[in-house]
Amino acid sequence: MDLDLQDKSVIVTGGASNIGRAIVLGFAAEGAKITIADLDTAAGEKVAALALKQGASAARVVKTDVTDLASVQNLFREANDQHGGIHCLVNNVGWDKLMFFTQTTPDLWQKLIAINYVGVLNCTKTALEYMTPAGGGSILSISSDASRQGEAREAVYGGLKAAVNSFMKTIAKENGRYNIRCNCVCPGVTVPDSVDETSENSMWKEKNSMFTDEQFAAIAKTLPLKRIGKPSDVANAVVFLSSQQAAGFITGQVLSASGGYSMIG
Ligand SMILES: NC(=O)c1ccc[n+]([C@@H]2O[C@H](COP(=O)([O-])OP(=O)(O)OC[C@H]3O[C@@H](n4cnc5c(N)ncnc54)[C@H](O)[C@@H]3O)[C@@H](O)[C@H]2O)c1
Repeated sequence: MDLDLQDKSVIVTGGASNIGRAIVLGFAAEGAKITIADLDTAAGEKVAALALKQGASAARVVKTDVTDLASVQNLFREANDQHGGIHCLVNNVGWDKLMFFTQTTPDLWQKLIAINYVGVLNCTKTALEYMTPAGGGSILSISSDASRQGEAREAVYGGLKAAVNSFMKTIAKENGRYNIRCNCVCPGVTVPDSVDETSENSMWKEKNSMFTDEQFAAIAKTLPLKRIGKPSDVANAVVFLSSQQAAGFITGQVLSASGGYSMIG
């Protein structure tokens, strides 16, 4: 199926690493013009070069801190000027540190709120300012299955991802009249093939920073599809939902791409 993403201008936040990197390469295969918004520009440039090799009609990196509205406004100005508008935004930046709630501190809560929630607000507000007068677009946020059923050691993060789901549904209701579609994709545990596919700030920079090999094997066993997620598993769902051609009547939805870890009716 032709997804009609050729030459469409796409912003992927956190596109320098793991899932964001795979999303960039997914759009590249469709011939999109991609802007990678990340703190780590060196890793971002490597992904941009690969994206160009794999079919992107343009790929650029703009150093961005999604928690800072002025930095986000600069990102959108550059992407709009260089790529002729903004058709799709993927709010992919997210971060967590696994620990029980009793071990967390207010400083950690503030960091989690800024990265996982304020970043989505900054980018979505700015995207709406471009997409509304332009006649439409797609905004997609990467949430998490931790938002759907709770996850031990992810109390604050899971709560914030649930807030992202609810926020995106409201934005979908408020902006459908402007032909702007808003959806979420929830990964489960999704691991890069190698640390070469991660950036400096990545949660996966150290091979076993999140889980041990034994824990990965135990997690895989519990999943109906019996394996851990790959970044491309998430990217395929994102590219589909971002395509007006393929998903033009889908908005306000939360889709898990997690091997059946959660099944919400
Ligand atoms: N990997 C998983 O198992 C998993 C599971 C569920 C949900 N998710 C979600 O998927 C998304 C991507 O996860 P990942 O594993 O690819 O992450 P990652 O840690 O590998 O990469 C995150 C990227 O975001 C960038 N970044 C961090 N803070 C930033 C900021 N303030 N401004 C701009 N860029 C910033 C980092 O430099 C990095 O390149 C996140 O939203 C995460 O919460 C991941």
